[in-house]
Amino acid sequence: MKGRVEAVVGAQWGDEGKGRVVDALGGKVDVFARYQGGANAGHTVLVDGQKYVFHLLPSGMLYPCKTCIIGNGVVVDPDQLLNELKELQDQGKDRARLVISGAAHVVMPYHKKIDKAQESLRSKGRKIGTTGRGIGPAYVDKYSRCGIRVEDLLDGEALREKLEYNLDEKNMYLTKIFGAEPLAFSEVYEAAVKWGKALAPYVEDASLVIDEAIREGKGVLFEGAQGTLLDIDHGTYPFVTSSSPVAAGGCVGLGTGPGVVDRVIGVVKAYCTRVGEGPFPTEDTGEAGAALREKGGEYGATTGRPRRCGWLDLVALRYAVRVNGMSSIALTKLDVLTGMGTIPVCTGYEIDGQHEEHFPSGVYRQGRAKPVYERLEGWSEDISRCREFEQLPLKARKYVEHIEEASGIPVNLIGVGPGRDQTILRNF
Ligand code: IMP
Repeated sequence: MKGRVEAVVGAQWGDEGKGRVVDALGGKVDVFARYQGGANAGHTVLVDGQKYVFHLLPSGMLYPCKTCIIGNGVVVDPDQLLNELKELQDQGKDRARLVISGAAHVVMPYHKKIDKAQESLRSKGRKIGTTGRGIGPAYVDKYSRCGIRVEDLLDGEALREKLEYNLDEKNMYLTKIFGAEPLAFSEVYEAAVKWGKALAPYVEDASLVIDEAIREGKGVLFEGAQGTLLDIDHGTYPFVTSSSPVAAGGCVGLGTGPGVVDRVIGVVKAYCTRVGEGPFPTEDTGEAGAALREKGGEYGATTGRPRRCGWLDLVALRYAVRVNGMSSIALTKLDVLTGMGTIPVCTGYEIDGQHEEHFPSGVYRQGRAKPVYERLEGWSEDISRCREFEQLPLKARKYVEHIEEASGIPVNLIGVGPGRDQTILRNF
């Protein structure tokens, strides 16, 4: 019997709480697979009162006897990965089998330098607000076909040749364009050889491992990072990340066909947040937005930056349902809306005097989109101890049902607090 494959994707601008949804599914999953992005992601998982933040490791690393995959679509920062692994090893918590695709690209030291230098040169209004983790430049090299892949780290001579070519070019770029210091070949090469030795035990054909798992009837989870509106194609380009967080990215980034995916779960925060620059039609820069930030603890897991906060955007949600083929919603942080009075939800946009029901393409139209709000009645009762949908106050239930109606798909999980058990499951 074919194993069940589920994709968990961010339906907004990232930071929707994917880690806790992955965690809720954990028991049914044998293989956790990350398919895109890199150490720009920050997945927070709370287990037994202890908080873990993973940037590169799949969230399943905390489970014994599971397989965790870093797919070919990920860009790997070896120092970061090895640090995360060491931290788990030191606590005796590295219980899962880790598989790293040899075809995943490596974030090299020059990528981080270029990322920061490029961002500092961008004028106001053109800054992307990157995490500075070298993500964009690493993907640029991948698509310019000069990138260094994890498998290259295992072969000293091939590595030397590729690195010489790369470093000559990158040093020219760093010194002549950015006026920065060049990187010494010996330092980068020696570090890369060390990374190769440390990562070698984990390098396997990830596509094959997943295929075998599916054939054996095992549960597989595609773990998305960032979110739909940060997707390189479908997001608010150019204010996006450089990979494909949408569900289809899971197939490309892991080496499977689209037919294997049984369910696409979109993770939706009960309101919206965004870090970095770019259009955000429902942003609330006033007191209510600040209240969401404080109550929701909306500070970046990777950079610590305060997140921009605003209201649920049903136009963007319907778009996310479409471009991901979402069939299920996991709604997080509903408790943060408790006591907010009436709650605005965006049902359409007004762009240049015209009503718009669909998420527009292009940052110029997205930037001019003014939200049309419907105001839903809020609730003031504490919902953090609710474990059944029926235990929620009527107005909170109505909020959830409104989302189901607008999106056309069911809300199967509701987060009512940060703890692992503070979750309502409905046919999940
Ligand atoms: P980059 O991925 O570092 O190149 O950054 C590009 C944009 O994506 C910036 O606006 C970042 O703030 C945003 N971004 C990258 N990773 C995440 C994430 O995990 N959560 C939320 N935003 C992210």
